Amino acid sequence: MVKKMLYNCRWRSLHNHKYFIIKLGVAILLVGLAFWLLYTRSTEFSPISDTPFLDNAQISPPPVSPLISKENTVGFPPKDDAGKCNIFIGDWIPYQGEPIYTNESCSFIDAHQNCMKNGRPDTGYLHWKWNPRGCKLAQFDPDRFLESMRNKSWALIGDSISRNHIQSLICILSTIEKAVEVYHDEGYKSRRWTFPTYNFTISVIWSPLLAKAAIFEDVNGVSTSEIELHLDILDTNWTKQYQSFDYMIISSGKWFVKNAIYYENNKVLGCHNCPERNFIELGFKFAYQKVLHNVFNYITRSNHKGMIFFRTSTPDHFENGEWFSGGSCRRTGPAKEGEFGLSDVNRVLREVELEEFEKASAKASANLVDLKLFDVSPLSLLRPDGHPGPYRFFQPFAKDKNAKTINDCLHWCLPGPIDSWNDLLMNMVFNS
Ligand SMILES: *[C@@H]1O[C@H](CO)[C@@H](O)[C@H](O)[C@H]1NC(C)=O
Ligand SMILES: *[C@@H]1O[C@H](CO)[C@@H](O)[C@H](O)[C@H]1NC(C)=O
Ligand SMILES: *[C@@H]1O[C@H](CO)[C@@H](O)[C@H](O)[C@H]1NC(C)=O
Ligand SMILES: *[C@@H]1O[C@H](CO)[C@@H](O)[C@H](O)[C@H]1NC(C)=O
Repeated sequence: MVKKMLYNCRWRSLHNHKYFIIKLGVAILLVGLAFWLLYTRSTEFSPISDTPFLDNAQISPPPVSPLISKENTVGFPPKDDAGKCNIFIGDWIPYQGEPIYTNESCSFIDAHQNCMKNGRPDTGYLHWKWNPRGCKLAQFDPDRFLESMRNKSWALIGDSISRNHIQSLICILSTIEKAVEVYHDEGYKSRRWTFPTYNFTISVIWSPLLAKAAIFEDVNGVSTSEIELHLDILDTNWTKQYQSFDYMIISSGKWFVKNAIYYENNKVLGCHNCPERNFIELGFKFAYQKVLHNVFNYITRSNHKGMIFFRTSTPDHFENGEWFSGGSCRRTGPAKEGEFGLSDVNRVLREVELEEFEKASAKASANLVDLKLFDVSPLSLLRPDGHPGPYRFFQPFAKDKNAKTINDCLHWCLPGPIDSWNDLLMNMVFNS
């Protein structure tokens, strides 16, 4: 009971100097946290979510969205208004082949997502392919992709899931020619690689909130104060390079759930989770809506001549707890449709994403900006088996079979389910 309460108060109470017991609890918690975050620095995005939602958010009703309506998911074949197949509605079907890369052949896999190397014993999760119901999805062809991307540049913009995704893409492309790193920032958060033969460059740009933000973390990556987020100013990390990219995949989501103070016109507007301060609680939905609205305004007015994907945020699959309270993801195969619902937090993020995208979509077409929805959220929801879980660490059970570990049920094993995202991307790039 007390333990549960402490967990619930975990971050909020960092600034609470009144309650000794809570402070003590937090101190104990931080020992565990330090452990988690020590190994998280390169990942930076621990699935920390400060929200009352998370405490009761496990299994909620399946996601229903304007774009993927009940009729669409049940009906067959799923087509959009133009009669085109909706490649995001489908099923994971068994796949006999081997993954196109492994921990042996690819050296770009983050240690925390290198499930093979870290000793994950089951391999069934590697043998599934996404299969749209209304049409056939060709497998990503790295040779064709690189050939057609001569002199072109791509950027994946967002948080650690974008990093996770780019590693998948680079591993696949490196089966044709090994990527060469040509840039990284101090913290290896924003990086760029080139494929010399093709003069093709691909970047990952760290911009977890897409808007200007001051993030306060100590050397261990533990948050020491609320994020100061400017809802009306976009992050120059991506905007200053925006026109130089031919293709972009932009996404955000989870970082908005963190404690934050919101600014507009450089004045405090309110906050999310700041009980110690005398600001209005505006909630993360408010902030996400404003920022996405501004992001889409920027894009639709940009006159950009390339292709811009907005990727929906991906769900986590912690069961029997959250990441900080013993939650785990032990499944070894995909879930059945409807078995997992989006958590309340993920549902809110998704609602905002689809709403803002729909509004932007019309403006984009009117302005001849090629903006597409890369809607991986529903198909990712069906893959609770694709996360590292305890195998974010090297051989977590080597010393003690019953070792207590902290699970990662948010990022994805590589190789793993998000390799299929590239099949979808290829389809969108070549069939549009
Ligand atoms: C790849 O994973 C296997 C299985 O865990 C391991 O034996 C091997 O040493 C790993 N290779 C590399 C290069 O990490
Ligand atoms: C590489 O591509 C860029 C355009 O992205 C072009 O300006 C440059 O001349 C190309 N370099 C070579 C060596 O082909
Ligand atoms: C790539 O750029 C180089 C140098 O500008 C040019 O000679 C070549 O034709 C370009 N290739 C393609 C496929 O655009
Ligand atoms: C921009 O990138 C730098 C370096 O990767 C990073 O430290 C900073 O937090 C980023 N800005 C925002 C607003 O996220």
